[in-house]
Amino acid sequence: SFSDAEKAAIVSMIGKVAANPGGYGSEALERLFLGFPQTKTYFNHIDVSHGSADVRTHGGKVLGALVEAAKHLDDMEGTLSQLSDLHAYNLMVDPGNFKLLSHCILVVLACHFPAEFDACTHAAFDKYLAVVSAILTSKYR
Ligand code: HEM
Repeated sequence: SFSDAEKAAIVSMIGKVAANPGGYGSEALERLFLGFPQTKTYFNHIDVSHGSADVRTHGGKVLGALVEAAKHLDDMEGTLSQLSDLHAYNLMVDPGNFKLLSHCILVVLACHFPAEFDACTHAAFDKYLAVVSAILTSKYR
């Protein structure tokens, strides 16, 4: 669970994300695919090239889910339950990939919001992404 200070930092940062989820999401995915090309294997069915509309759409869904989950910081399991089923039972994404995507999301936020992204906000958002990732990978066995 999150402290009040962590909640405030997460909610503040997610407010900035909510202004343009497709933009920040596509940047995060582009960094994921370039920096960790093995992650592209899950996306054979979409166009993963630079500037692709597919990547923008998917990035918007991913960060949109983060925006939604941040509205329910005291019930993240319930909010993310369907996505958890999807990633575990249907997609079977290797859990290690969640650390890679989380890292890329943090880099995008640090680039766009250098003033807000102080050490406390970094730590709080990292924790937020770790909790989301733990939930999305919790049903594998
Ligand atoms: C689909 C969120 C991590 C691979 C989705 C969808 C959302 C989502 C919202 C769309 C679900 C729908 O259309 O109903 C997230 C979040 C993540 C995360 C919040 C962690 C912060 C990952 C990772 C991978 C991955 C690490 C693999 C590297 C996929 C794939 C799809 C998908 C392959 C289906 C794409 C499609 O066919 O449209 N995810 N995801 N996800 N996710 Fe994730």
